[in-house]
Amino acid sequence: MPAQVMSEKTFQGSHVMAMENDSPSHKRLEGKIAIVTGGAKGIGEATVRLFARHGAKVVIADVEDTLGSMLADILGPPVTYVHCDVSSEEDIENLINSTISRYGRLDILLNNAGVLGNQSKHKSIVDFDPDEFDQVMRINVRGVALGMKHAARVMIPRRVGCIISTASVAAVMGGLGPHGYTASKHAIVGLTKNTACELGKYGIRVNCISPFGVATSMLVNAWSSSDEEGEEEECMRFGTPCEQQVEKMEEFVRDLANLKGPTLRAKDVAEAALYLASDESKYVSGHNLVVDGGITTSRNCVGL
Ligand SMILES: NC(=O)c1ccc[n+]([C@@H]2O[C@H](COP(=O)([O-])OP(=O)(O)OC[C@H]3O[C@@H](n4cnc5c(N)ncnc54)[C@H](O)[C@@H]3O)[C@@H](O)[C@H]2O)c1
Repeated sequence: MPAQVMSEKTFQGSHVMAMENDSPSHKRLEGKIAIVTGGAKGIGEATVRLFARHGAKVVIADVEDTLGSMLADILGPPVTYVHCDVSSEEDIENLINSTISRYGRLDILLNNAGVLGNQSKHKSIVDFDPDEFDQVMRINVRGVALGMKHAARVMIPRRVGCIISTASVAAVMGGLGPHGYTASKHAIVGLTKNTACELGKYGIRVNCISPFGVATSMLVNAWSSSDEEGEEEECMRFGTPCEQQVEKMEEFVRDLANLKGPTLRAKDVAEAALYLASDESKYVSGHNLVVDGGITTSRNCVGL
């Protein structure tokens, strides 16, 4: 197994394995056909694994071909991999069409692929980089809108379906991410509400999820500090954070969180996606499910 995939498995391994060993007695997505964009690693990977455990056939759509294919191989026939850059309409069209050719329908689309942009260099609006902004918007917003468009195209005739997108706490309040990223995540909530409004008449539910910090490569990469460059480089040589970096990031997030005790992990976000994808949420549409331990709803100003 290539080192990169080994390292990814090690990165989330302990949490993910525990989930996979206990097979759920009630499979909440039995027979459903799902696509997860950005499914090769991080939150997407955890969701692919959880959806498959719950009986779904899952198509991983990503640009990380080695990781995506290896994950599909590990999980076996219910899971396949398709190369797809979500900012390309041609790729999205091919993703949806190939899923329909293979399975005959699409029940669930999780628009999860996303990028943060340059957290460390362009923090101030004075240093705003329009090219970087365009790139973040192309993946985070255009990618989601294209996913919604082509999923809706095949879901409308069947008058059923479920579209979920990964937004962020940066979609709820300011100060939690770079300007471009924050704008892009706010846009996902807007797209979710508007699309839910339009597609409700066809029985299609459209929702999004807004997680707080999960120690994936996206977050750890962004916060890698320059004074630890040598150590970070060694740790990140396979493109994924090492245990030490994950622990450091998780501690940082725990300190910021309002809810004390639990640590937010990719599988917790996957559980939120499972709820929104399953029939348990059959009357939930246009909703932004915030998974943040209360950080966006509380500021303890009076010492409660
Ligand atoms: N990690 C967090 O703290 C956090 C918090 C809130 C929201 N999110 C959101 O969750 C989603 C997943 O993030 P993550 O933390 O798992 O990051 P990650 O970097 O671990 O995974 C992102 C995945 O998206 C893929 N991707 C990137 N650009 C793509 C493109 N153009 N087309 C297809 N795939 C592409 C990557 O290859 C990768 O597999 C993102 O939308 C992110 O904004 C993350």
